[in-house]
Amino acid sequence: MTQPAKKLSNPRAGHHLQTRTCSIAAVGSYLPARVLSNADLEKMVDTSDEWITSRTGIQERRIAAKQEHTSDLAAKAALLAMARARVAPEEIDLIVLATITPDMPFPSTACLVQRKIGASRAVAFDIEAACSGFIFALEVGMHFVMAHTFETVLVIGAEKLSSITNWNDRNTCVLFGDGAGAAILRHRPNARGLLTTCMRSDGNKADLISMPGGGSQSPASAHTVAAGMHFLRMNGKETFKSAVNAMHSAALEALRRCETDITRIKCVIPHQANRRIIDAVAGKLGATPEQVFINLEKYGNTSAASVAIALDEAVQAGRIQRGDLILLIAFGSGLTWAAAVIEW
Ligand code: ACO
Repeated sequence: MTQPAKKLSNPRAGHHLQTRTCSIAAVGSYLPARVLSNADLEKMVDTSDEWITSRTGIQERRIAAKQEHTSDLAAKAALLAMARARVAPEEIDLIVLATITPDMPFPSTACLVQRKIGASRAVAFDIEAACSGFIFALEVGMHFVMAHTFETVLVIGAEKLSSITNWNDRNTCVLFGDGAGAAILRHRPNARGLLTTCMRSDGNKADLISMPGGGSQSPASAHTVAAGMHFLRMNGKETFKSAVNAMHSAALEALRRCETDITRIKCVIPHQANRRIIDAVAGKLGATPEQVFINLEKYGNTSAASVAIALDEAVQAGRIQRGDLILLIAFGSGLTWAAAVIEW
């Protein structure tokens, strides 16, 4: 008599690994309390509320307190998502955190969040894809659920961009803000969840948005500090042009892969960098204003946190119901860009 096959603890070691779907169980976000308005910025640099509002759509942004670090923002967003998904800290198998403003170069901010939320069993690491970071992290986390490697994954996008902003440079300081958003990923039976993600990069345009100081190329020194190399730098005009085309083409590719079109998308959640970029991308896609979720007037560009915060606000506002198709689109330094279609 043949013995029944022993169940393998590593499913990938089996010859007949079957994948499964991965859904977002719940989302959460956190914004620091301090509001910095365009009127406040008028007192700091040579700018005007009229210029900022008409060129970007941003009216105010949130600024974290001195003792409030990226990991603190991330932990608060994560705890909210966990409470909504009814997930205890020890149930989390993996934390993937996207940021360009880690608390420090190492250890990873994900490990610092692990400590802060008490997720003692979790594996934790960061990924860096600037404003595309949350969508990249969703895709990374999803594969661990699909492959049965992990049951519960926490994905976070978190930034304290105020810590790398040159508050004397009107070209950039009016654009950015701080915040965090988080999602719990799990397999949900009979749901299709994350359907596809189109991810792209173009390192040839790495110089368009960067922070050149503090890494192995230019380690921190009196010179790098004097030269302002620890601040974010951006060629806004060139970035703008690349952003519109890249976000549009990624969104089209993601829709094509799902054999669907923009009319079937309930809610488009674009990266919140500039109202004019969002309008141009939405126009090229043929999305109606009612389909597109925008909150950048309140928070500005929060990079890796942007799509995560907007997703949470769209869900809390009742703009997305279970079963709806949603389209996330992002673009950022790298260059990197991505679009994801999700059945909510
Ligand atoms: N207040 C007043 N005037 C300003 C300001 C300001 N805050 N900033 C720039 N100006 C001036 C410029 O000096 C320039 O003056 P000049 O013509 O005398 O030289 C004029 O306004 C026009 O400047 P532009 O750079 O041409 O303005 P533009 O319309 O391109 O808007 C902006 C600039 C908002 C930065 C836009 O280019 C943009 O949004 N770019 C894309 C940003 C983006 O998507 N980033 C995503 C990634 S970010 C990341 O990965 C971290």
